[in-house]
This record gives sequence, structure tokens and C-alpha cells, in this order.
Amino acid sequence: MSPLILGIETSCDETAAAVIQDGCRILSNVVASQADLHARYGGVYPELASREHMLKIIPVIDTALRDAQVSWRDLSALAVTHGPGLAGSLLVGVNAAKGIALGQNLPLLGMNHLEGHIYANWLDAGLPYVAQTEDVFPLVALIASGGHSSLVLMRGHGEYTELGHTIDDAAGEAFDKIARLLGLGYPGGPAIQRAAEAGDAAAFKLPRAQTQRPYDFSFSGLKTAVLNLTKKLDARALLVNDIAASAQAAIVDMLVEKTQRAAETCAARMVLLAGGVAANQRLRERMRARVACPVLYPPPKLCVDNAAMIASAATWHYRARAHSGWDLDVIPNLKLTLAVMSG
Ligand code: KG4
Ligand code: ZN
Repeated sequence: MSPLILGIETSCDETAAAVIQDGCRILSNVVASQADLHARYGGVYPELASREHMLKIIPVIDTALRDAQVSWRDLSALAVTHGPGLAGSLLVGVNAAKGIALGQNLPLLGMNHLEGHIYANWLDAGLPYVAQTEDVFPLVALIASGGHSSLVLMRGHGEYTELGHTIDDAAGEAFDKIARLLGLGYPGGPAIQRAAEAGDAAAFKLPRAQTQRPYDFSFSGLKTAVLNLTKKLDARALLVNDIAASAQAAIVDMLVEKTQRAAETCAARMVLLAGGVAANQRLRERMRARVACPVLYPPPKLCVDNAAMIASAATWHYRARAHSGWDLDVIPNLKLTLAVMSG
């Protein structure tokens, strides 16, 4: 029988719930975004985020069940993100999930948010997706979000080896900080992408940092270079677009170069893009042009935080009977390699 899983995600500033069948079919996918609430602070305000999750969590879960036209009795399990993320935000989702799982007598699956981002690529959402192909491993996944940037070798479900990670800012954080310097607002990634469309990517020569380890990333030098540039130049609209385009090109070049090298060295069968930055159009195009094996990425709304990806990742945990206990706790700094099978 194909598992029907309700996923819950509250690790940062989106309250989300989704119902997924068989790991790939999206029956419902509800996301209540707090972006507008946090925009005036230029980033996520943790205290505000957890309070907002408290208000939204039950209506969002109700809507996910209603949209999917399923009842509690139809579900196979309940999956919830328990890390990494903001402690106060994670607690809202984990406690809601525990209460419901206990009340409805459903298995509880504690999920890693980063594993969820990778599994957004298993969802059937109009683009090529992993579940369509039989031999997919080994694969290389680039996780690039607001809080994380790493390159992961995946040899099978749950078999993760981290090849490298950022030594300073995450790629999404670099987009957000540079957007702030340019007065483009929050979240910065989509704003920079939009501004870059009207700009010249070759206008400014910005640094592409080299790192000691071959698969690590570093974005802080780029941020400083942009800061110096904005001090030197008058921030007229035209220049803002050119700086945005040049900065986007630098971030994308760094991500593509390391990913391409990892895919080649690991003889990857495919490359998956994951996390909010995977929504970036230039990143998608450049990666496809440079990498020899197929490059997959989810549609933009499944790249950013959502619960469909959590329920998708939970499906193989469910099949492996890797249920969590009632002592499931939030782990704000949960690592991808440690989360697997333990819940
Ligand atoms: O995965 P996500 O929703 O949240 C985290 O888990 O961090 O990622 C959010 C990040 C933000 O930094 C945002 O600026 C970035 O993803 N992002 C983008 C784009 N859309 C979102 N970065 C570049 N280009 C985009 N189109
Ligand atoms: Zn995320």
C-alpha cells in the first residue's frame, strides 16, 4: 500500500503542512509565509516567528487535510521537522505533531530539514523528478538555503557524506546581505534575481573565493567587496542592477564550480539542487550547462521551505520503520549525517 503522510514544517518563518502519497504525489501543500512580518527587520525575528507559528499551525494543518480530502484515519504517519532551525519555531511544530500523533494513534517521524530540501526533488510537480528514474545513486546534492550551504554525496536513502560546506555565510545569506546593502529588501535572493535581469553581470569584477578544502564555500569576501563598492559608488538604480547582476554571477560561479568538480570526482549519476537558492534561474542554467550528468531541481515554491518535502523524505523512513519515540526533541543544530534513521 502506498504510504500517505502528513508533513509539518515550522523550522524558520513558514508554517507549513502537506499531505503526500507514495513519497511523490502532492495531495496538498499549504504554506503560511511570515515574510512580510519579518521584512521590516531585514531578517527573521525568532520570537515573532514562534508566536506566529502558534497562531497558524492548527489552521494550516486543517487546510492541508481538507485540500487533500483525507481524514486522520486515512493517514499512515505524521512527519515533523525537528532540526536544524530556530528552537522556538521547531518546538511549535514538534509539540503539535506529538499531540496529534498520540491522539490519533499515528506513527511519529522526526525529520531533518536539510534531508527534506533534498527530497523536494522526489516530488512530482511538473518538472523532471528523481522518482522517475531507477538508478539514481550515487548522486551529489547541493544544499543552498538561507541557513545552510553544503555539498553532499548520497549513496542511497539515508547514506549521506558531507563533501564540504560554507566556512562563513550560507549562499542564501549572501544573497540576503548583499540585497540589504543594495536596498533591495528581504528576502534578498528573489530581489537580486529581479534586479539582475536589468543589469550587466560583467559590469563589476567581484571575487570568487578559493578555499583550502576543495568542496567548501566562502561568501564573506564577496559581501565585503560589494560593501566597498557601494561606498565608492553613488547608488543609482542602474548601478544597483549591475552590482546585483555581478554579485549573483559570482555566487553562482562558486556554487557551480564546486558542484561540477564533486559530480565528476564522485561519478555522480545526477546532481540535485536543493534549498531556497535552487530557485535561482541563473544557477539552474549554469549548472545544467557545466555538469555532464542530469541536473534536477524542484519548482521555485518547492525549493523554499515547505512541508511537502518533509513528508516526501519521511516516506522512506516510514518504509524502513524508522519511527521516532515520544521523547522526540528539537535539535536546532541537527546535522544531516546524524539525523538519519534515528528520527
Ligand atoms: O530554504 P529556504 O526557504 O530557507 C532556509 O532553510 O534557509 O531558503 C531561503 C533562502 C533565502 O536566503 C532567499 O534569499 C534564498 O533562499 N532564495 C533565493 C531565491 N529564492 C530564494 N536565492 C537566490 N535566488 C532566488 N530566486
Ligand atoms: Zn530551508
